Order: sequence, then C-alpha cells, then structure tokens
Amino acid sequence: MSLLIKGARVVTAADDYIADVYVADDTVTTIGAQLDIPADQVIDAAGCYLLPGGVDPHTHLGFDQGSTITSDDYATGTVAAAFGGTTTVVNFAQQRRGQHLRAAIDDGLAAAQGKAVIDYAQHIVITDLAAGSLDQIDELAAEGVTSIKMFMAYPGQLMVDDATMFQVLERAGQVGSLCCIHAENGPVIDVLVRRALAEGRTNPSWHGRTRPELAEAEATHRAIALAEMAESPVYFVHLSCAEALDQVTGARDRGRPVFAETCPHYLFLDSSVYDDESFDTAKYVLTPPLRPARHQADLWRGLRTDDLQVVSTDHCPFCLNGQKTIGANDFSMIPNGGPGIEHRLQLLYSGGVVAGHVSLRRMVDVFATTPARLFGMYPRKGTIAVGSDADFVVFDPNGSTTISAATHHMNVDYSLYEGWRLTGAVRTVVAAGRAIVDNGVFVGKHGAGRYIARDASGQP
Ligand code: URP
Ligand code: ZN
Ligand code: ZN
Repeated sequence: MSLLIKGARVVTAADDYIADVYVADDTVTTIGAQLDIPADQVIDAAGCYLLPGGVDPHTHLGFDQGSTITSDDYATGTVAAAFGGTTTVVNFAQQRRGQHLRAAIDDGLAAAQGKAVIDYAQHIVITDLAAGSLDQIDELAAEGVTSIKMFMAYPGQLMVDDATMFQVLERAGQVGSLCCIHAENGPVIDVLVRRALAEGRTNPSWHGRTRPELAEAEATHRAIALAEMAESPVYFVHLSCAEALDQVTGARDRGRPVFAETCPHYLFLDSSVYDDESFDTAKYVLTPPLRPARHQADLWRGLRTDDLQVVSTDHCPFCLNGQKTIGANDFSMIPNGGPGIEHRLQLLYSGGVVAGHVSLRRMVDVFATTPARLFGMYPRKGTIAVGSDADFVVFDPNGSTTISAATHHMNVDYSLYEGWRLTGAVRTVVAAGRAIVDNGVFVGKHGAGRYIARDASGQP
C-alpha cells in the first residue's frame, strides 16, 4: 500500500515548507517538490498544513477510578483521538495494590487488543512498591515501558510516600525511564475536603475550593528536590498554575532536567465555573481544579519559553449522568476527570496559534514532537521525515470546528467546550500510512493500532 500526499505545507517543530510526501506501507520514504511517483492513494493537500500525528502522553482509557471506570475505552477513545489528529496515545496501566507491575502492563495490553485504532504505549502507575520491586522497573524499561507515574495526591488510594518516590526516581533515572508526577499535597487537601464536608459544603463547586494552588506548588517543589537528590529527571503532569510553574522554571534555570505538561482545560477554562453551585459544575471536577484566569498568561508564557514542553489532554471522561452523580451528595465522591482527547489540536490551533500565543511550529512541538522525544518514540513519532511512521494530520486552517457533545466521538455526555466555534479543521488523518479519518468520517479499523515498545526517554 502506497500513499502520496500532494502540495501540502509540511509543518514540523523545526521546518515549514511546501512538499509532496510519499509513503510506502507505514513509513515515509520520500519527501520532495512535485514528486511523480505512482501511488495506490493520492491525497491533494493543497492549502492545508500537513502536521505530524499528535502524541498524547496523558490518557485514561478504561481507567478504574475506584467507584467507576472511565467512559471511553481503547475502542471509543482512540477513535475520538483520531478525529482530533492524535495518532499515538500513552495510556496509564495502573498497578493494583499487591499486583506485579508486569501484570498491570499485561492487563493494559489486553484492554487495547483488537480495539485501538491508533498506536499506543503505556506508562506504569506505581502505587505499591512492596509488590512491584525496584527490579521490575528495569525489566519493564528493557521491554519498552520507559515511563512511570506516581501520585502525591489521593492518600489511601493512589498516593505513594516520599521514600517510595525517591527510590523509584533513582532507579528510573538509572535505566532511562521518566517519572511522571501528579503533584498535589494530598494529605493537606484531604483535611480541607473533610473540613468543608463537615461544614455541610457538599456541592461540586467545593472541589475547586479545597485544592489550592499552593498544594500543587508545594508538591512540585518537593518532587523537584527528590528528583535532584535522586539525580534523575522528572516530568510533571497536568501543571495548572503559576506557582507550580515557578518551581519548574526555577529548577530549569538551575539546569535541572525538569519537564512539565499542561492541558487545554487550564489554558482555556477558569475557576469561575465553580461560582455555579448546581450539580452541573460536576463537569469541572477534574484535578488539579481549574484556576483563576490570571494563570493562563503564565501557562502560555511557559509554553513559549519552553518552561512547559507538552500539552496533553489528561482525558479522563465520566458521564455527568450516572457517573459524576455518584457524588451527588458529596463532592469528594465525584469521579475526578474530564474529557478532552478529541479537541487538543483544534483548541491549540484556534486558541493558541490564531490567538497569537504560540507559533505554528511551537504548536507542533508541544502537540507531537516533544512528547514523542520525552517518551522515547522520536523520530519514529512526532515528526515528518524519511524513516518516520506515516502518521499525519491534514489540517485545513480555513475550515472551522464547532464542538458539541451531540457530535463529538468521545463516549461522554458533555463537552467542556460546548458550542465553541474554532478556526481550523482536521480534514484527513493518516495513521501507519492509511487514512483513518476522512472529511468527518471514520475509515479506520479497530485493532489496527499497534503497541509501541519505547526507547529510553529522550530529552529535548
Ligand atoms: O482529574 C483527573 N485528572 N483525574 C485523573 C487522574 C489524574 O489525576 O490524572
Ligand atoms: Zn493526575
Ligand atoms: Zn490524569
């Protein structure tokens, strides 16, 4: 199977030029001006950008949150990702307490089998070091699982203590794995939550009011110190506020290998949604919570100056009806998380590039290139180059996208961006050399997505 993409404006993190791109099977083999090579399929991309397929390193497909499971599994979630130009996800394989790390990875692989329409990899979430000995970190790294997630929040469920974090950071650094940290001071947040509930404050708006910025900044500071003592790199997931970003910026200024992602919801939404005390606000029960709008300028500044390197989605969808309602009488029982896997590119283009916050190439960098590098998939993923996987988005900058739960492909009954009209539209998405989305129609195949065994984490 061969594919020729004609006349596109090829935009990578480094380059921006008009070219034709020829693909043999699943790999880019030739890039040049006006290629005249016969192909099984030809896509005329004149007037469009040809971008590398997105790499989303933070998704919770089939994630068991305790009381319920995210509403998207690999089948629905990867279709939705494809509609947003994402062609690779790194999903979380969560160790249950007492479970061997390998068993958690195997469970994740089984969950993807026959379902994923795009390529996928897995982070291992360590919740219990006693069961998952440090040696298993080496074994998994050798097999291509080169990132580890640890939580400093959710005590008694997912949280690990500082001693565990330190030891895991140390071992991960030695074998080229990257530790991804959910940085919030969980025990202090739990005190604030219990206090609010005792005062009868049970509605979802209290989720936002009981998780202060300083709880995130303190944990970020602590994790940076632990990583420095362990002489290892560290990556912060879903960084949401200026105070946490200051910690990352300070560490980077000292030359430390500290990296961080933010998410579209922190760039485009703010904590004013928590002014509404109705249960509808449960839509915004995600962690860390949305912050006052003043933080957004800092996050955009961080993306421009490379203090933030990645925009991921933290796609963690729960339906408002039937799932979020588990916490109808107690906001602390509402499953935490929000949907986002489908609209990362469209939001970044319209609200980031068109709005003048970041350049087009920088958008590609944070959407695809740097996540591919940090998570050991570059240059196979994250760029358009001879030898790279043929994963692309044909993006029409003159199109438009209207977001609605009525038309999105995520298996969730609301959108965080209901009714938003954005500049630009995904026209065609190619994964492993085949179109999987074409003019709004899914033309891919469940099970066609491949598991990606990753290299050691690479630094940008
Ligand atoms: O609210 C969120 N982000 N839920 C998913 C779990 C996590 O903290 O990443
Ligand atoms: Zn988290
Ligand atoms: Zn998450």
